[in-house]
Amino acid sequence: MNRLAGKVALITGAGRGIGAAIAHAFAREGAAVVLAELDLETAQRTAREIEAAVVDANRGTSDTSGGSGGSGGSAARVLAVRTDVTQSASVQHAVDEAQRAFGPLDVLVNNAGINVFCDPLTMTDDDWRRCFAVDLDGVWNGCRAALPGMVERGRGSIVNIASTHSFKIIPGCFPYPVAKHGVIGLTRALGIEYAPRHVRVNAIAPGYIETQLTRDWWDNQPDPAAAQQATLDLQPMKRIGRPDEVAMTAVFLASDEAPFINASCITVDGGRSALYHD
Ligand SMILES: NC(=O)c1ccc[n+]([C@@H]2O[C@H](COP(=O)([O-])OP(=O)(O)OC[C@H]3O[C@@H](n4cnc5c(N)ncnc54)[C@H](O)[C@@H]3O)[C@@H](O)[C@H]2O)c1
Repeated sequence: MNRLAGKVALITGAGRGIGAAIAHAFAREGAAVVLAELDLETAQRTAREIEAAVVDANRGTSDTSGGSGGSGGSAARVLAVRTDVTQSASVQHAVDEAQRAFGPLDVLVNNAGINVFCDPLTMTDDDWRRCFAVDLDGVWNGCRAALPGMVERGRGSIVNIASTHSFKIIPGCFPYPVAKHGVIGLTRALGIEYAPRHVRVNAIAPGYIETQLTRDWWDNQPDPAAAQQATLDLQPMKRIGRPDEVAMTAVFLASDEAPFINASCITVDGGRSALYHD
């Protein structure tokens, strides 16, 4: 608890999946959180769940400490803002709203992302542009909006959600890995650029994590159950990851516990990418 006390964090794509888990974890650790999400309804629902969870947790704490006798519990500081990360003005608006509501941004998590899995030569121009607009431009738009304030104040932590596709290739998944390789390049370049101003820029590379994105991928296979089993069989731990397991790493990188970690990428894949073959 309170590893992010007093910090203001903005998480893109926080309506569901990994982004929602990060928003929950950050709020639990005392941060004010802004959920910058294309689908405002999911963001508002997640915001309400966070508020309820934080009030419950605080009530529990005051119960056990014998403090307020469990009559209240303090409110979470949480805000949902409709944001399209492909549009720089939309991301700037979300950062401005965060500042207006809670004060200057300490942490940015560029999490919003989409799977665009194509065969290279049959892929349309639109598929290519859609992938890069969200998965790479979206990350840059977030950095571009958050960095000036962080650089001016001489502190900040940016966490980009990359992927094991950032350094491994699965045939038929083009051009998603190209964009995710770019996320690592962007992370390293900005991490070096702003290190002298005490802004750290890092990435997390999740492996298979159980979210709607993954379930959609299985569902689109000819035999979804067999596709799910094949995925599990590939995993050294014989299971895939949970969103909260990515969130724990995001808390660490966002917090003051990682002051000398910069321009790095932490892999969260249960060891899958270290495996040569079974
Ligand atoms: N799930 C996995 O196995 C996995 C593995 C590696 C990396 N990742 C990455 O993690 C991130 C989150 O993935 P997830 O599995 O939670 O996905 P998800 O589809 O469950 O959630 C993504 C969220 O991003 C939002 N979003 C999409 N486009 C947006 C836009 N233009 N602007 C703002 N928000 C937008 C969606 O509405 C959704 O709420 C992505 O960057 C993804 O590439 C996921």
